Amino acid sequence: MQIRPEQPQDHSGIAALTSEAFRNAPHSGGNEAAIIEALRADQALILSLVAEAAGGAGLTGHISASRCRIGTADQALIAPVSVLPAHQGQGIGSALIRAALEALRLQGWPGVALVGDPAFYARFGFQARPGLSCEGIPAEYVQSLSLGSAPAPVGPLILHPAFFTA
Ligand SMILES: CC(C)(COP(=O)(O)OP(=O)(O)OC[C@H]1O[C@@H](n2cnc3c(N)ncnc32)[C@H](O)[C@@H]1OP(=O)(O)O)[C@@H](O)C(=O)NCCC(=O)NCCS
Repeated sequence: MQIRPEQPQDHSGIAALTSEAFRNAPHSGGNEAAIIEALRADQALILSLVAEAAGGAGLTGHISASRCRIGTADQALIAPVSVLPAHQGQGIGSALIRAALEALRLQGWPGVALVGDPAFYARFGFQARPGLSCEGIPAEYVQSLSLGSAPAPVGPLILHPAFFTA
């Protein structure tokens, strides 16, 4: 398995695998692939990595990140993360998250936010924090991680408009 930045020829494969990964996810809005495309169209994807099976067997996973704000602080936001159902539970999602965190740290982002199940994301150091919130989402699902020595900021999490319009 290889993790690498997306290339233009990956766009349709990313959309297909994202739709497939979220098809039966209970929290899916059904628009995750459209969100990625809207972020890309707005040049708002600060990171887009694919996991590719060995031997050119195709894409098995994807992770993207965009700019967000927590209060007035600029932060990175990881969303969405997708692994094809047949390949879940093999460490691909974890490898994508670790690769994204390292890439975002190298890009100089002070911290990362996401909305997701703490049972999965706590293992990477993500935490819900008093004062960190996102409208309409239970507070325990809104999590962040500092990538440097500064404490993670708190405040309302403000996402790119694509998350609401796509
Ligand atoms: C979430 C997802 C990306 C994880 O990818 P993966 O390759 O299966 O993850 P890994 O194999 O690295 O890790 C598996 C671990 O995560 C846990 N896990 C996977 N999905 C989880 C979820 N939604 N909630 C809680 N735990 C989850 C598994 O139970 C397993 O735990 P264990 O290591 O303690 O046994 C993948 O399941 C997926 O694409 N799900 C559908 C889309 C989605 O919900 N994306 C995340 C929200 S943006």
